[in-house]
Amino acid sequence: MYDNLHKSVLLEELCDSIKIDSNKKNVIVDTTLWLAWHASKIVEKLNPWDTFIGFDADIKNLELAKKRLEETNKDNKVRIILINSNFVNLKKELQKVWIDKITGIYYDLWISSLHIDEKERWFSFRLEWPLDMRFDRTKWKTALDIINSYKKEDLRRIFLEYGEEPYCNQIAQKIVETRQKSKFETTKDLSDLIWKVSKFEKSKNRVFQALRIEVNNELENIETSIIDAITLLEKRGIIFVISFHSLEDRIVKNIFRKESRDCICKDIVCTCKHKKTLKKLNKKPILPTEKEIQENPRSRSAKARFAEKIV
Ligand SMILES: C[S@@+](CC[C@H](N)C(=O)[O-])C[C@H]1O[C@@H](n2cnc3c(N)ncnc32)[C@H](O)[C@@H]1O
Repeated sequence: MYDNLHKSVLLEELCDSIKIDSNKKNVIVDTTLWLAWHASKIVEKLNPWDTFIGFDADIKNLELAKKRLEETNKDNKVRIILINSNFVNLKKELQKVWIDKITGIYYDLWISSLHIDEKERWFSFRLEWPLDMRFDRTKWKTALDIINSYKKEDLRRIFLEYGEEPYCNQIAQKIVETRQKSKFETTKDLSDLIWKVSKFEKSKNRVFQALRIEVNNELENIETSIIDAITLLEKRGIIFVISFHSLEDRIVKNIFRKESRDCICKDIVCTCKHKKTLKKLNKKPILPTEKEIQENPRSRSAKARFAEKIV
C-alpha cells in the first residue's frame, strides 16, 4: 500500500552482508523494521530453525511490517518476534525473550518517509501541526516543550550541533524573545519565525531536524544501542549500519574504529588494556550506486558501514 512512498536503501548490499550459516541457529535482528523491505529479504534467506527479531519504536510501522512479514513467512517457516520498542532498549527487550546472543544485526536510520508525509506525525514544517515530533508518543518531551522552555544557549547548541544551522544564535535569541509575549504552539509559529530571521528555506529543514534529534535523543540512543549490539554479537556475527546524517555516521565510525583496535589510550605503555572486538569490513563507507540514486533520490545521503565480531 505504501510501496511507492518508500524504497529501501542499499537492499542488496545489506542482505548480502548479513551472513546466514545453515549449520547453526541464526538470530538476526532488524532494529528499524518499518515496511520490512530489508526484513523480508532476510527472512527469505533464513532456515526453519532460525529466529528473526524486528524492532520499531512506532506501533503503526510495526503493524505494517507484521503484515509484510506474514506474507513472506506464510508457512511459518521462521520464528519471528516483533518488538514495539526503541532500539535503545535492545538488550533489555532481548532478555525478555531469553536471547543473549545474536548472529547479525542491522540499522536503517532514515526516519521513514511516512513520518514526514503522513499528516498526524507532525514532523513536517510545511503544514501547520502542533509542535510534537516524538517517535514514541508515550515520552513526555515534545518539540513544543523544548521551544517554550530551553535556555537560549541550549537552543543555540542543538541548532548548531544537530542542524549545523548558521543562524543558530539569532534564531535562538528570537525564540526566547517571542515566547515571552506568547508561547509557541504550532509548526507554523516556528517556521515563520525561522524565515523572518534567516530568509532561507533550508534553515527550516535544519532547525526542524535538530529538534527531532533532540526530542527523540536520537544520537545517544544510536550510540548506546550499537555498543550493546556489539556485546550481544557472537563471534563472526555481523553489524551493518546505514546512516543518513554525518553525525550518525560519525558515531558509527568512532565506535567501529575504537572496537577494532587493541589499546585506545595514548600512553607509551598501554594502561587501558582495551582489546579489539571487531574487524571493520569496509575501509570506506558503502554508498548507493548512481542507478539507486536515480530510482530513489532519498538514498543520496546514505552511507553504510559494517563489521564482524572477532571474539
Ligand atoms: C527507514 S525506516 C526503515 C525501513 C526498513 N529498513 C525497510 O526496509 O522498510 C526507519 C524505521 O525505524 C523506526 N525507528 C526510528 N528510530 C527508531 C528507534 N530509535 N528505535 C526503533 N525504531 C526506530 C521508524 O519508526 C521507521 O519505521
